[in-house]
Amino acid sequence: MSTPVRLLAISGSVREGSINQQLVEVAAAKARALGAEVTVVDLRALALPVFDADLLAAQGFPAGALALRDLFASHDGLLLSNPEYNALPTPLFVNAFDWLSVVPADGDKPDGKAVTAGKPAGLLAASPGALGGIRALPIVRTFLSTNFAMVVVPEQLALPSAPQHLGEPSALKTPALDQALDKLVASVVKQAGWFKG
Ligand SMILES: Cc1cc2nc3c(=O)[nH]c(=O)nc-3n(C[C@H](O)[C@H](O)[C@H](O)COP(=O)(O)O)c2cc1C
Repeated sequence: MSTPVRLLAISGSVREGSINQQLVEVAAAKARALGAEVTVVDLRALALPVFDADLLAAQGFPAGALALRDLFASHDGLLLSNPEYNALPTPLFVNAFDWLSVVPADGDKPDGKAVTAGKPAGLLAASPGALGGIRALPIVRTFLSTNFAMVVVPEQLALPSAPQHLGEPSALKTPALDQALDKLVASVVKQAGWFKG
């Protein structure tokens, strides 16, 4: 019997009560219902300093950067929800992936860019505002598909007025949005299965 696909679930915000954390956890529940194993990653727990080449030269790689590389090495795809900060993805997210991008290979673990290559990513955003964070999604798509060679699935969901739609563990309260999330998650699980082989 084949093993389940394994996905990472990451929120670009980890503040208490984060709507993006809530949204990615709903997506994670949907992926589990499709048979995937999902690991929710807390970017704050990686304790990554702001990227600084002098700091890297002086102190080497922070443990959190190596841990993120190792997490990708053991997973087949990514569910990601990012808030929009002034129309950009959050510094917490970009900084973590900047660190990942320079982590070297270690034995059978590829370097930080190769470890993501060919794996699917599904993009989400949530905002209390009217646009749902949609302005940052093309930037995240370019970031992950070019420099990290991820297969960013065409389906994406920017959730406006997010608190109205959140509150249940495995579904959005609004059926049309819940169906859109179902499609996105199914696409990532399917592509992750193709990647895993
Ligand atoms: C520095 C900053 C910039 C923000 N810029 C935007 C923005 O451009 N568009 C938007 O929809 N919301 C913006 N917001 C509001 C966030 O969408 C809101 O705080 C949201 O709850 C953040 O996601 P979280 O709940 O997952 O932390 C901004 C918030 C902060 C703190």
